[in-house]
Amino acid sequence: MNEPLLEVNGLEKYFSIKSGFFRRELKYLQAVDGISFKIKRGQMFGLVGESGCGKTTTGRLLVKSIAPTAGEIVFNGKSIIELDDDEVRDFRQSVQMIFQDPYQSLNPRMTIFDIIAEPLKIHKIGAFNQREELVAGIMEKVGLSPAASFIFRYPHELSGGQRQRVAIARAMVIKPDFIVADEPTSMLDVSIRTQVIELMKKLQEESRVSYLYITHDLAVARYLCTEIAVMYLGKIVESGEIEKVTQNPAHPYTQALISAVPIPDPSYQRESIAIIGGVSKPIDLLPRCRFYDRCYERDQHCQSQAMPDLHEIEEQHFVACYQR
Ligand SMILES: Nc1ncnc2c1ncn2[C@@H]1O[C@H](COP(=O)(O)OP(=O)(O)OP(=O)(O)O)[C@@H](O)[C@H]1O
Ligand SMILES: [Mg+2]
Repeated sequence: MNEPLLEVNGLEKYFSIKSGFFRRELKYLQAVDGISFKIKRGQMFGLVGESGCGKTTTGRLLVKSIAPTAGEIVFNGKSIIELDDDEVRDFRQSVQMIFQDPYQSLNPRMTIFDIIAEPLKIHKIGAFNQREELVAGIMEKVGLSPAASFIFRYPHELSGGQRQRVAIARAMVIKPDFIVADEPTSMLDVSIRTQVIELMKKLQEESRVSYLYITHDLAVARYLCTEIAVMYLGKIVESGEIEKVTQNPAHPYTQALISAVPIPDPSYQRESIAIIGGVSKPIDLLPRCRFYDRCYERDQHCQSQAMPDLHEIEEQHFVACYQR
């Protein structure tokens, strides 16, 4: 159980972008800037942070849909950076990604059956009648039931929640070891969000699948995940066991995120910590703490020193901050 399924070391993704009036100046956008973490077998690992901090880029790197600028991704004991063709095929069968937008991620011209059966076809799993059974089985599991009433329909005939269930079924039908779920509920109506979150929890508990669950919502991460990493402009600023990070947040950024989480008990008022400014783009960064410009605890030392590394402040709880 404790052996990691996935290990990420010093992972970087820089995008080259053209800037300046004539777009002649070549710059680098440091979308993911040297992150490391481990995901255990059967674990739901949360990746949390505001828009633009590099969550989706991290997810795409882990499923090998884009190549890293630097760093290492070890999956099942093997580096995924240099796999031969057979190994890439095996890898593609072991990992899946569920996207944020169920309106864009499903092919509008395919029936629900064909969409869910496609990964079986690609990976040549089962004869046609076996595929029918596998698809029907997974559809019932994700709550598209009775399956017979959905299989000949098209994505536009389904609600957002049903479409996301189709996307989840499609990801699960080939029984992957690892799924990246990229904000699977953020485009859904609030009323059906909870149902899809409950479904993710149920599916995770029933199987040995590991997840990277990407969300900007710490409350969702707390409900689903056992461990999280909090990202800010391409860096992990805090990570560890979910209870430790959420009950005892150490980084000023995590503290601000937590104070923004609505508290259901109306008799309890928590003071909200204001963060100065918004997230900028990780371009032309000064060699210091990424959070410096918005931090309410910064001092001289933070101004002049490099980005702090993560260090352990209690067992299984890490923070990258000079003030801790
Ligand atoms: N292909 C690309 N080319 C250039 N820049 C990119 C590319 N993809 C992402 N970026 C930039 O990289 C940074 C991280 O983007 P990413 O999509 O990973 O963030 P995110 O945390 O998923 O945000 P959101 O919560 O909005 O989905 C952003 O500044 C984004 O503009
Ligand atoms: Mg994203």
